[in-house]
Amino acid sequence: MSETTQALTYANYLKLEELLSLQQPRSSGPEHDEMLFIVIHQVYELWFKQLLHELDRVKALLEQDESHHAQHTLKRILTILKVMVAQLDILETMTPLEFLSFRARLEAASGFQSDQFRQIEFVLGLQSAQAINRFPEGGRARAALERRYHESTLWDAFLQYVRREGYQFEDPQPALITIYRNDPKNAELCERLVDLDEGIQEWRYRHVKMVERTIGARPGTGGSSGAAYLRETLGRPLFPDLWAIRSQL
Ligand code: HEM
Repeated sequence: MSETTQALTYANYLKLEELLSLQQPRSSGPEHDEMLFIVIHQVYELWFKQLLHELDRVKALLEQDESHHAQHTLKRILTILKVMVAQLDILETMTPLEFLSFRARLEAASGFQSDQFRQIEFVLGLQSAQAINRFPEGGRARAALERRYHESTLWDAFLQYVRREGYQFEDPQPALITIYRNDPKNAELCERLVDLDEGIQEWRYRHVKMVERTIGARPGTGGSSGAAYLRETLGRPLFPDLWAIRSQL
């Protein structure tokens, strides 16, 4: 029987044979902890994929003025983010020496080169032409980043939605203050965006702490200064207007 005529099973629906053949340690032995390192990064890439899928949906729902559904999808995104932050605990069970046992085999590979992480940053408004140039021309990653660089961001979609809700503005902050004071439905939506912003910052914070405890002040495999570089990315909000208005509410 050819594959297309085979009955659907758990294994072939999920492509388990392929999935389970994708964890290939590079260390000789191989070092026990390299399996965890590979699995956890692969799991993160899958969550990144799902986040992009859901972020695109939030944007589309806002474009259709479906703010209730947009909030529902944001709730799912936040739940995924919580799981992503919690998963760092698993990697923190790996001691510095356990990591060093295979770190050299990673060569220049690093999460720094995750195009899906950059895509998430792009959709959330942190777009950088420099980040695109790190990916080879003609490849999937480059094409995806170039597309997202030119696309509207979640914040753009939100502001357009707010305008269609009847708010006129050049500077959005006074309109956002009015929303918080008089418009509970849209204030709720603003709160979910603040949750999202805080969730991403929380991941960055937990990641840098994990990096500090695992490699200290060593430079990263991706060529940066390591924890010092990562600390610079902390406290950089996605939606600064939503933070700025809080002292005026
Ligand atoms: C022992 C575990 C880990 C260590 C020691 C580590 C180390 C680092 C370092 C030093 C950097 C800075 C760039 C560089 O020079 O390499 C970095 C960036 C990054 N790592 Fe990790 N990492 C670890 C686990 C993870 C995991 C599980 C993920 C999940 C995908 C991840 C995702 C990222 C991302 C997305 C960046 C880019 C951050 C940015 O540019 O803002 N890392 N990592």
